[in-house]
Amino acid sequence: MSDLDALRAQRIGVLCGGSSSEREVSFRSGRGVIAALQRQGFDAVEVDPGLDLPGQLRKAGVEVAYIALHGGPGEDGTIQAVLEYAGIPYTGSGVLGCALTMHKVQTKRILTAEGLPTPGYAVLGPEHDLELAVETLCQELGLPVVLKPLSEGSSFGVSIPKTKEDLHTDLAALVGQYGEALVEEFIAGAELTVGVIGVGERLQALPVLELVPHHEFYDYEAKYTKGLTDLIVPARISEEAAAEAQRLAVATHVATDCRGVSRVDMHLDPDQRLWITEINSSPGLTETSDLPAAAEAAGMSYDDLVMEILRSALPRM
Ligand SMILES: Nc1ncnc2c1ncn2[C@@H]1O[C@H](COP(=O)(O)OP(=O)(O)O)[C@@H](O)[C@H]1O
Ligand SMILES: [Mg+2]
Repeated sequence: MSDLDALRAQRIGVLCGGSSSEREVSFRSGRGVIAALQRQGFDAVEVDPGLDLPGQLRKAGVEVAYIALHGGPGEDGTIQAVLEYAGIPYTGSGVLGCALTMHKVQTKRILTAEGLPTPGYAVLGPEHDLELAVETLCQELGLPVVLKPLSEGSSFGVSIPKTKEDLHTDLAALVGQYGEALVEEFIAGAELTVGVIGVGERLQALPVLELVPHHEFYDYEAKYTKGLTDLIVPARISEEAAAEAQRLAVATHVATDCRGVSRVDMHLDPDQRLWITEINSSPGLTETSDLPAAAEAAGMSYDDLVMEILRSALPRM
């Protein structure tokens, strides 16, 4: 008897695709998940969520939803709210966890309130005099700084200006496009990401993964082009730093109300201090994504990982 037996009599709809800019990656995650579920004897079908998701699920005979959506409504809590309202159990984080973690500044506010380390930052909008802001930012955060939209993913809109001129140009462009911009202190050093899985007593951090992009930073191309980033797991850091990174990842997951699965991005500076930059509530699940690689280092196969995430639907049944 396994705790997952309750789900064997049900049809699982793997939600993938969707309307975000990460649609194609999401299909790859979804197809990996469907294959894993089918290998484990589950009845799984693909569902690309449209406007009438409850109707779509009803028609397909789906009783449980497995979230393999990235970015947009599938990661910001909107789809989760529709599923809650329709009474359909689903995997992963709920409305609050998704909404909070989609917003990088709300995440940083929670981290700060919980005493968890996150780089210094400022938020700028059209009401600010950008000329003046550039001077203040250079004084307070130094150069380079990292510019980001508040609620994007996949490094969309991220830039790392090194001069006042570039900062001004990039800032004006970002505020123009998104209305607001997050300006964050640049952390030199190793880029790490830590997967968190499991509910209740099964809550655990996976081995720390180190990302070495061949580009200047982990930009869109480096993320999605094979060979442009080296994934090193376990990370080449001290045991103490790895244990602390895992502790911070679990603390971030809990503080931001994530459930079942998440991935916490951080940097280790040359003084061996860790800085958390963001948490992703619906990390990539393609066979070559970070999370499956980290799971494998913990002795968990891709199928084991997919099963562990499936367990997060059980308390909602
Ligand atoms: N504070 C920082 N210091 C140095 N590099 C950063 C910092 N914040 C982000 N980056 C770089 O930019 C990339 C994207 O930033 P991130 O905050 O993770 O946004 P996204 O949601 O797009 O992944 C990171 O993977 C990293 O390479
Ligand atoms: Mg990131």
